[in-house]
Amino acid sequence: MKILVTGGLGFIGSHTVVELQNKGFEVVIVDNLSNASIDVLDGISNITGKKPILEILDLREKADVQSFFKKHTDIAGVVHFAASKAVGESVENPLLYYENNINALVYLLQELQQLEEVCFIFSSSCTVYGQAEIMPIRENAPIQKALSPYGNTKQIGEEIIQDVSKVSSIKAVLLRYFNPIGAHESAEIGELPLGVPQNLVPFITQTAIGLRKELSVFGNDYPTPDGTAIRDYIHVVDLAKAHVVALQRLLDKKNIEKVEVFNIGTGKGSSVLEVIKTFENVNNIQLPYKIVGRREGDITEAYANTDRAFNVLGWKPEFTLEEALLSAWKWEQKIKNQ
Ligand code: WQD
Repeated sequence: MKILVTGGLGFIGSHTVVELQNKGFEVVIVDNLSNASIDVLDGISNITGKKPILEILDLREKADVQSFFKKHTDIAGVVHFAASKAVGESVENPLLYYENNINALVYLLQELQQLEEVCFIFSSSCTVYGQAEIMPIRENAPIQKALSPYGNTKQIGEEIIQDVSKVSSIKAVLLRYFNPIGAHESAEIGELPLGVPQNLVPFITQTAIGLRKELSVFGNDYPTPDGTAIRDYIHVVDLAKAHVVALQRLLDKKNIEKVEVFNIGTGKGSSVLEVIKTFENVNNIQLPYKIVGRREGDITEAYANTDRAFNVLGWKPEFTLEEALLSAWKWEQKIKNQ
């Protein structure tokens, strides 16, 4: 079974390629290398002993997408990661996000709807909920107006897939990720943020290794027990495995609806200070940080209700926050001076 993984050299993409190969799937990666290094391919094959096929192309080039599917006529499933994902950047450069995250999806779906049966896994995000009223967040929580163009592209992407599935043979699972962190235990692959990390955990590990002077904690005046914002931090390998389970569900025709939605998180909320303390304890490191003002667009709290993921999808997370933070630190040390 040949599976296309777009953005397969990226953080979540590369971990998902490993888990797909572990399950015996043949993987074709499409990546434009805009936010990933080709060395990730070696990282993947060092883990699995199998080198995925890599087609370097940009999904915004419609003609290239068409020729890809003329060449690869035996694609049984697609896991679509390729997208821009920095919230702040999307505010400054909305058209980059609408072109990359929407056009690419449209060109991809235009090809897929020509095929017989296609199983489509879409990388969505808990950001579609905005600040949900009720915790933990269920999949039927209202979708709120996106706080950023990035979040809007995820909402629009979900709607496009819903509409296309009604008039084509495309079956889809939308996975709404919470906060992916950590790295594969081998430290062969992990997160490679370009420039100054926007996300908490890579900023923590870069501070710990001395690349950053100190961590700025964005606000401690939130209505939470310790005043810092709460998120659901999920190990990237658990998240990757959820993609394989979702794909297998569609391939085995076990899906109940043509488009199904699942929140993929641990079900546990952790505050920024709790993540810092846990990182310090498991890695025996003193992390320099200071409290600064809130970051524009941040919400107070988000963590997943995992009932559907467990009872319907048949998936549950296995790694703890401690293990994820240990793996993140091991990875940072591995890539030091690279
Ligand atoms: C987590 C918490 C920050 C950095 C975003 C997107 C989501 C997904 C993951 C792409 C927040 C605080 C952070 C720092 C800090 N995007 N923080 N100092 O914003 O929850 O989610 O990234 O896949 O769709 O919305 O993740 O890691 O940026 O922030 O205090 O230097 O850490 O305020 O409370 P976020 P994050």
